[in-house]
Amino acid sequence: LDSLAVLTSGGDASGMNAAIRAVVRSAIYSGMEVYGVHQGFEGLINGELEQMSAGSVADIIHRGGTILQTSRSENFRTEDGREQAACLLKEWDIGHLVVIGGNGSLRGGYEISKLGINVIGIPATIDNDVPYTASIGFDTAVNTVLEAINRLRDTASSHGRIFVIEVMGRDCGEIALAAGVAGGAESVLIPEIETDLGQVLEKIKQGIERGKAHSIIIVAEGVYPAMELRDKIQEETGHETRVSILGHTQRGGTPTAVDRILASCMGKHAIDLIAEGQRNVMVAGEGNRIFTIPLEEVINGIRQPEMEMFEIARILSI
Ligand code: F6P
Repeated sequence: LDSLAVLTSGGDASGMNAAIRAVVRSAIYSGMEVYGVHQGFEGLINGELEQMSAGSVADIIHRGGTILQTSRSENFRTEDGREQAACLLKEWDIGHLVVIGGNGSLRGGYEISKLGINVIGIPATIDNDVPYTASIGFDTAVNTVLEAINRLRDTASSHGRIFVIEVMGRDCGEIALAAGVAGGAESVLIPEIETDLGQVLEKIKQGIERGKAHSIIIVAEGVYPAMELRDKIQEETGHETRVSILGHTQRGGTPTAVDRILASCMGKHAIDLIAEGQRNVMVAGEGNRIFTIPLEEVINGIRQPEMEMFEIARILSI
């Protein structure tokens, strides 16, 4: 009888619960024992494990956040911390660890795999910055941003204002780009492409001349301070400009069908991989098209947003 543990780590993402449910139920279905680790790698170091049953993941598929809770563990960055975590798993006779999280968490998983634990990664982060795959939580976050854009668009047109909307994404412009295209933004500023502020201002001015009722500028966090951008736009165009920073609203909320399906398929696949004897891989894919990539390749890979999307955003917002 195989035993495995499952944890969520790093920033939470909607759909993590659906992934936990899929892992736990598929494991039990396959005759494995499954333990939930509380608070990610930090909880693993501290031995916060509890055996899960099919019932312990009831009524969570629709809930945002993670019932196991999560952390960004500093201790796990140290070799001592990782040794402690690996020892604990061995003491409990648990040979496999399913890590649900983003880049940092998958890297953590790769590190502990070197200590003899079989790690299966499941990509979950609103940033969508894990190479070679879609990530659980991205679709929900983009839809939350869209909902906000729709609302801000109403008030922007009523007042004839320009809106700067700041979205999350750490070093990655995926949320900004997807929401920019789907939300019909005038400009999208992302870290992967150098911003030509002159061009952004020119486009706003042209829009005003053509009688556009409003302008929506989406800026990924870290590209440009949103308040500074507002001041600059207001100064240069003479038009009233407001800022809305969406922040952690993007991280919560009930997951979309896309994220629930992705999480369910990936969670089930993770258990199939353990049953097949695969070691140290990440479940990758989109929708129900699932495949696997070695963890080592994932952590050395680089994800670039599709430049075509940037072009589409630019052309459709003339
Ligand atoms: O990685 C997810 C993310 O939401 C990033 O987009 C953001 O930069 C960061 O986490 C925020 O971290 P925290 O929740 O620690 O404030």
